[in-house]
Amino acid sequence: MNKKSIEDIDLKGRKVLARVDFNVPLDDNLKITDDNRIQKAMETISYVIQTQGKLILMSHLGRPKGERKDEFSLKPVAEHLSELLKKPVRLLNDCIGDEVKMVVDQMNEGEVVLLENLRFHKGETKNDPEFAKKLAELGDVFVNDAFGTCHRAHASTEGITHYLDSVSGFLVKKEIEYFSKILTSSAKPFIFILGGAKVSDKIPVIENMIDKADCLLIGGAMAYTFMKVQGIDVGFSRVEKESFEIVEKILKKAKEKEVGILLPVDHVVTDDIKEATNVKTTEGASVDSGWMAVDIGPKTIELFCDKIKEAKTIVWNGPVGIFEKDVFAKGSLAIATAIAKSEATSVIGGGDTAAAVAKFSLAGEMSHISTGGGASLEYLEGKVLPGVAALDDK
Ligand code: 3PG
Repeated sequence: MNKKSIEDIDLKGRKVLARVDFNVPLDDNLKITDDNRIQKAMETISYVIQTQGKLILMSHLGRPKGERKDEFSLKPVAEHLSELLKKPVRLLNDCIGDEVKMVVDQMNEGEVVLLENLRFHKGETKNDPEFAKKLAELGDVFVNDAFGTCHRAHASTEGITHYLDSVSGFLVKKEIEYFSKILTSSAKPFIFILGGAKVSDKIPVIENMIDKADCLLIGGAMAYTFMKVQGIDVGFSRVEKESFEIVEKILKKAKEKEVGILLPVDHVVTDDIKEATNVKTTEGASVDSGWMAVDIGPKTIELFCDKIKEAKTIVWNGPVGIFEKDVFAKGSLAIATAIAKSEATSVIGGGDTAAAVAKFSLAGEMSHISTGGGASLEYLEGKVLPGVAALDDK
């Protein structure tokens, strides 16, 4: 990466204002249900402590839309981080203001504080220069380690870089290195596995990947729009009529470029997605009326896994079935297992896919699991991430 990183600057005794993505899922009791994003920021956090910087962490949580709301407080995160670090992490009652400034000005080397949710102020998502300036006044240097938020041009990711020296943290550096490695990789075959619910969300990434990948394996609910366009019966599986035209164009372009688009050739289907009492496997690609496809079938598993075995580069974004229910998880499990066994460089993107891999206890077998949902998709679409572009060049 041609951007300066945290290792390129001196931190000792300096106030290190670090943007992290602690937008973690919470249950009804405000308990963190998945701390992966916090864990992934630990390398940068520990490094600042070791190098005797004064660490001021800032993040958003959810979308409180410019209002202070208790359920979006970063309190659970401060408590959890304190346990992980085995030292106190003080949560300040705001992210800007005189009181906050007074506390950070009195910090000791190696101390860590966490600012309250940035999105309690409208200026954050509006990228308001005044708000960005107030944030910048808290630090001597800015570190962006919030890969999951780098696709947002917000005050704490972009605006702030106009006022402070700005470098990446270890996580942002690693994420960018992996994504750029696979996008420029000559290790072929390069296969792109896509799943998830909405085809419209993934159109730009499919369009970009047709120019890069050798083969696209499409599963999940989005596959049924592709099948319907080709005249295959899909029962009451979800289809997006508004995407028919663009899907037809994609299929045409793939043919011209000789890029394979593999769709399911059989399915696990049910007549009631909630109860899932009647579940069967179809013989072929079509789904009878009254039935809905909820996972790829055994023949598709074999077809997809054979492709994965040959691959040298793999990107997977989106589960191929409703993996949260064990009865519909076989397809995603088979894909995850095949990738785990493969020698290929594998990058997993998107929260659901990361959750599936974690559920199958295969996270450690992947080359890289991205902490970015929207950010990883936008990178794969070929877009420039504003939070990365704004960092100082080497
Ligand atoms: C995410 O969860 O993808 C990031 O934290 C960004 O959150 P946002 O979509 O609310 O901007």
